Amino acid sequence: MRIPVIAGNWKLYKKTAEALQLVQDLSSLVKDVKGVEIVVAPSFTVLGPVRSLLFDSPIAVAGQDCFWAEEGAYTGEVSPGMLVDAGCSHVIIGHSERRQLFAETDEKVNKKITAALRAGLTVLFCVGETLHEREAGETFAVLDRQIRTGLNNLSPVDMEKVILAYEPVWAIGTGKTATDEQAQEAHAFIRQLVAELFSSGVADALRIVYGGSVKPDNITALMAQPDVDGALVGGASLTAESFAAIIRFQK
Ligand code: PGA
Repeated sequence: MRIPVIAGNWKLYKKTAEALQLVQDLSSLVKDVKGVEIVVAPSFTVLGPVRSLLFDSPIAVAGQDCFWAEEGAYTGEVSPGMLVDAGCSHVIIGHSERRQLFAETDEKVNKKITAALRAGLTVLFCVGETLHEREAGETFAVLDRQIRTGLNNLSPVDMEKVILAYEPVWAIGTGKTATDEQAQEAHAFIRQLVAELFSSGVADALRIVYGGSVKPDNITALMAQPDVDGALVGGASLTAESFAAIIRFQK
């Protein structure tokens, strides 16, 4: 009942020519795929060109971040409305690299999510524990804090445009995927928490995607977990063949 989402986070890779080649190859490899929401998140400078190339394609385009103000004296920032203007329908917010390298707090994440939703964007809201937190037995406490604060003051209607991404920090870019059981356990915890914060209807409809070293050879087992509704893919989204193979998982 929940439509799977497969999103590619390109991070700080791909200038215009490479970006356009990648989406062109990807479009042809997945043109017959039905029933999967496909999203690509290029860097800000290539959003416009990528979106133009995909104008008649179902592949959606996302920003990798945005600021919370619509305009003002904020040198270097990009607003939610600017992402919409560039043709984005989605935005990634709260990625662990933003949290760790750019001092993004749960409160800032909440302001960004709120602003992005007001601009009409669908938000891919990232949460996840570090290795240190997992080993200290704090995984659920961390998820609880990130989600309660990140979703603070949102309505059930807002939640229709939120996709949760569970990305254990120790699995990102390390080649170390969470086991299927670890992913399922965290996703079930998140769904239960969202039921408590909103309602069981909101929780049942919520897509919760897994991220962290997702590859063509582990996607099928991850997707077989009842609470895994898709994937946020970094490294393996940088080549059309591997990203297309992930999109073509067999549930
Ligand atoms: P990875 O990145 O697939 O390269 O581990 C995932 C992410 O950062 O979203």
